[in-house]
Amino acid sequence: MHKVLVVDDDKVLQQSVKQALEYHHFVVDVADNGKEAVTKVYGQKYDLVVMDVNMPEMDGIQALTEIKKHDPSVIVLILTAYSNVTDAVKAVKEGAYNYLEKPITSENLVALIKRALKARSMVETLTFSSPTLSIGETSSKDKFVGESNAMKKVFDVISKLAKVTTPVLIRGESGTGKELVAKAIHYNSPRKDEKFVTINCGAISENLIESELFGHEKGAFTGADQRKIGKFQFAEGGTIFLDEIGDISAAMQVKLLRVLQEKTFMPVGSNREIKVDVRIIAASHKPFEEMIKEGTFREDLFYRLNVLPVYLPPLRERKTDIPHLVNHYINYFNSVHNLKVTGAEPEALEVLTNYSWPGNIRELRNIIEHCFIMESSDMIHANSLPSIVFKDQKKAEVKDQVATDSVIDLADIQNSVLDAPTQKGSSGNEVQFSFGAKLGEGGKLDFAFAKDLFEKEFIVQALKINKGRINQTALNANIPKKTLLRKIEKYEINPKDYY
Ligand SMILES: Nc1ncnc2c1ncn2[C@@H]1O[C@H](COP(=O)(O)OP(=O)(O)OP(=O)(O)O)[C@@H](O)[C@H]1O
Ligand SMILES: [Mg+2]
Repeated sequence: MHKVLVVDDDKVLQQSVKQALEYHHFVVDVADNGKEAVTKVYGQKYDLVVMDVNMPEMDGIQALTEIKKHDPSVIVLILTAYSNVTDAVKAVKEGAYNYLEKPITSENLVALIKRALKARSMVETLTFSSPTLSIGETSSKDKFVGESNAMKKVFDVISKLAKVTTPVLIRGESGTGKELVAKAIHYNSPRKDEKFVTINCGAISENLIESELFGHEKGAFTGADQRKIGKFQFAEGGTIFLDEIGDISAAMQVKLLRVLQEKTFMPVGSNREIKVDVRIIAASHKPFEEMIKEGTFREDLFYRLNVLPVYLPPLRERKTDIPHLVNHYINYFNSVHNLKVTGAEPEALEVLTNYSWPGNIRELRNIIEHCFIMESSDMIHANSLPSIVFKDQKKAEVKDQVATDSVIDLADIQNSVLDAPTQKGSSGNEVQFSFGAKLGEGGKLDFAFAKDLFEKEFIVQALKINKGRINQTALNANIPKKTLLRKIEKYEINPKDYY
């Protein structure tokens, strides 16, 4: 339960705020002035202080400074009369989270308190670089998951980017979380209460994008029967997310460059210049460096955007995140489908970890949802995974198989060397493996060398037994014909020698 200190010399207001907050299950303490508030904060831990500005003994601004000096993590909300708004703004600069103008309603106050507490938990997550980072006001769907070093670095960059208003360029394969990063930056920045507006530059036709971004005047073009404001104006004070920026035309690149440089634009069909305060975050999976060389993307625009780049590694390069993401989506789909799946069994997790995830986290999410449909027990089992994830498994198994086979090869070879073995061929001819005592340079054990020796000997003996006949040798010695021919060539064996 969160503990709140309400500080106001107006006893009536103080008590009504106390009651309203207690009704919403906060633990509430009161103080009559700034001085008493400071004493209380020094004596015990509060999550939040709701404070008036004008008070005897010590005013709210001074008390704020003292409180923050003692415990910077306390959230301070200022209650102010309209005439004192300048003081309240000053308080925000001094570290208050926000202010409310009197008369206040309990809904507004409670909503602001909840938002402030949520914001603090986000900041704490960032400060302690914990692997999860909440985004926006929404559910667990918007949690950022990542324990890998690569993602920890990304979280660190996000927390730095949230403090500035410089443009950001987010790069990474499809489904790696570019939009999520853009939201994380916005919702952890001072613009968090303003709009986050997304525009997919790749999905809007060339002739509409300008009006979508900058708006148009009535009659600017056929069909423009009303004046319309664009996304830039709509996002005023907030953040605009230009997704797939690598897809915009040369003409639009010039216009965007101008917004970035001068923070102004002109709606289509207008000669009015409009000034905007919008933070630009762009994203793309395109190879900008190549596009610049080819002349399809402006270098100056790229450098303007790329001041603070964020690169999101593909999931296959941060496999340690996979189990965490699996759990995250299990929790998420449990709440969506009202189920109680407890986890994924180790075999299923192994399959998921070996998969190469070309669609990255979006694909992982879809696959976990698939499992929720297929699975009837409370665990995700390997057999409820879709066949696609087994694709890379086979490769992984083949690799393992080769490794295991090789171990057997080596053991066989060592035995054959020690025992100076002889082997009877099916034809009755006596065949002999002729591994010398020397398995590598200077008699040292050398796996590759010994393996080649063994292979050559094996093929020679198999050819001998089968009288140099390729098809028969392949069949009887259980070697694919192609492999046999390749090895014959590699070891310069002449099958005719064994006719
Ligand atoms: N680290 C993460 N933790 C939890 N969920 C994530 C993470 N990264 C991405 N996601 C989820 O994966 C999905 C894809 O993410 P997002 O849309 O941000 O990817 P993108 O890089 O923008 O993809 P595209 O290039 O295809 O547009 C979303 O549902 C998002 O919530
Ligand atoms: Mg996207």
